[in-house]
Amino acid sequence: MEVQDRLGRPLANLRVSVTDRCNLRCNYCMPEAEYVWLPRNDILTFEEIDRLVDVFAALGTDKVRITGGEPLLRTDLPDLVALLAGKAALRDLALTTNGILLAEQVPALRQAGLPRITVSLDTLESDRFEALTRFDRHRDVLRGLDAAAGAGFESVKIDTVVIRGVNDDELVPMLEYGRRVNAEVRFIEYMDVGGATRWSMDDVVSRREMLDRLAAHYGGTEAVDESTAAPADRFTLPDGLVFGIISSTTEPFCRQCDRSRLTADGLWYRCLYARTGTDLRGPLRAGAGREALEDLIAATWRQRDDRGAEERLAAADRSTFIPVEALQSQPHLEMHTRGG
Ligand code: GTP
Ligand code: 5AD
Ligand code: SF4
Repeated sequence: MEVQDRLGRPLANLRVSVTDRCNLRCNYCMPEAEYVWLPRNDILTFEEIDRLVDVFAALGTDKVRITGGEPLLRTDLPDLVALLAGKAALRDLALTTNGILLAEQVPALRQAGLPRITVSLDTLESDRFEALTRFDRHRDVLRGLDAAAGAGFESVKIDTVVIRGVNDDELVPMLEYGRRVNAEVRFIEYMDVGGATRWSMDDVVSRREMLDRLAAHYGGTEAVDESTAAPADRFTLPDGLVFGIISSTTEPFCRQCDRSRLTADGLWYRCLYARTGTDLRGPLRAGAGREALEDLIAATWRQRDDRGAEERLAAADRSTFIPVEALQSQPHLEMHTRGG
């Protein structure tokens, strides 16, 4: 049974966060000194995730992305990958990582059957990397990308959040780096999600501006003609190189958004910007059967009318979305808890 929400959007794409912990402190996501972590006992086991994914799959989910926090911090992650990779109902499985632990884990992840991977990398300069993430681990990410390049993934992507005055002079170097390691680069507009407490519209480099700058350097860019629910719009350079831009801030894709997110402790969110989620851990641990979970998830999705990024765009006063005090009392509002 496939369900649709109030705007006719299917429940096709599930992002599963496996931990809220991270081994970096990116300024656009975790800029604070202290964080409140989810209680350990609340974290779903792989068996629980497996059961929930089956329920989602029965309702039309055919794409799963493993996220965090930093997912490679979760012990034995390849075991979960193997469980998910074995599901015939999923036509796509991918993982988003910051790459720090990637080089050592690539063989096990491939062996477990992971087909696709996305690595976050915002700069090619190691001093900038440290300033942006608070850790001197740039080398490890580059090693991770090298390892991924030679491991036979169907696709490797690089996600680069572009911030004015921080890394917006690296658009061209990043594309050239992606070309060398055979990874498709996607530039992401800086978003005012929960956790981005230093966000300001002045720091956003819009898709329009990125395209203008790239066209000036390469002599043009052309849109790839495709319509999908993916957030990235894809473009080609005159020499054929393909790249993406995710313009969630200036041109949101809410109307096609088929994604929902499961936090590591089993709360289910219908939108990146949603203030409340649906507790699936409670019913699961209270012994709810498959049908009861299906009914709960289907009924909740049918009610969905979220258009969080569009509403932010329309907001007259676009200052910090969630103040830091609220984040501290409600860590589920954080992007790193919700899966970036
Ligand atoms: P593929 O296109 O299938 O490779 O995956 P993806 O683009 O969904 O995955 P990825 O994790 O690389 O997402 C890229 C970025 O898009 C995220 O890090 C966010 O910045 C942004 N993004 C992801 N999900 C959402 C969402 O639900 N809403 C909005 N507005 N932006 C999102
Ligand atoms: N703006 C845009 N993307 C963000 N991410 C986290 N915070 C933000 C933000 N404020 C996403 C990026 C990054 C991943 C770790 O999470 O894609 O690469
Ligand atoms: Fe989907 Fe909400 Fe993101 Fe819009 S803001 S794309 S509705 S998750």
